[in-house]
Amino acid sequence: MGAVALYARASADFDARLAETTALLQRAAAEFSPITQASSLGAEDVVITHLINHLELDIPVFVLETGMLHPQTLELLARTQASSRAPVNVLRPLDEAVIRFVQREGQEPMYQSVALRKACCQIRKVEPLERALAGQRAWITGLRREQSNARAEVTLIDTSAERIKFNPLADWSWGDVWHYIGLNRVDYNPLHDEFYPSIGCAPCTRVISLGEDFRAGRWWWESEAAKECGLHVAQGGLHVKQENKEEVPT
Ligand code: ADX
Ligand code: SF4
Repeated sequence: MGAVALYARASADFDARLAETTALLQRAAAEFSPITQASSLGAEDVVITHLINHLELDIPVFVLETGMLHPQTLELLARTQASSRAPVNVLRPLDEAVIRFVQREGQEPMYQSVALRKACCQIRKVEPLERALAGQRAWITGLRREQSNARAEVTLIDTSAERIKFNPLADWSWGDVWHYIGLNRVDYNPLHDEFYPSIGCAPCTRVISLGEDFRAGRWWWESEAAKECGLHVAQGGLHVKQENKEEVPT
């Protein structure tokens, strides 16, 4: 059974959520340029890219290609680059930094300690992210509140950092995401058909079994508290401050 058949289940107010997301993306494109979408090519991100293309918004997409992604993710990246109206830019880590790190720590140091795992994320994700965001006023992510306890306070618009972050699917359920994918026949990563709900780098992602948390397959050997790679860690703690959803920056 495929992921759409397994997961698609629209919330009662799905249409209102979609309308809110659409309005937010349109406003983000019109008023917060230069803006860009961060896409891991996961289910949430393919929905956002589909909306950007469908609404003909002027928002380029970027993918951090860590050098450790699954072949299925790389194939989806190639298909997305070929089909997307919006440009899909790929950022890779700096060769010298990766070579030095691998020579010093081996191919898979992430299992040895949280510090080495974070050092790997720093080289392969965080530094390229800084390059992707340089000069951007705002960015768009696929973070959802439901994804984990650490993300329970994710807001539609996060103004806690200097660069504004839009999380247009903050309110969506996993069922909503797959309802949209099914309805619009959005191309997605086939790993989702094999019980990978959350997909990152290959060495740091595993399948989950029935009853396990959404992000149980990410950095599964670490404690819940450590499980963020640095892409979304705000100063002074995880993620974003609580704020009024209606409060929109000017
Ligand atoms: S992570 O912090 O644990 O890696 P997760 O995989 O849940 O994050 O993705 C959350 C959001 O971060 C995605 O919706 C996307 O906006 C951004 N993101 C994560 N990985 C990447 C990537 N490789 N390239 C671009 N954006 C990414
Ligand atoms: Fe390295 Fe794993 Fe982080 Fe990817 S998720 S950058 S492989 S530690």
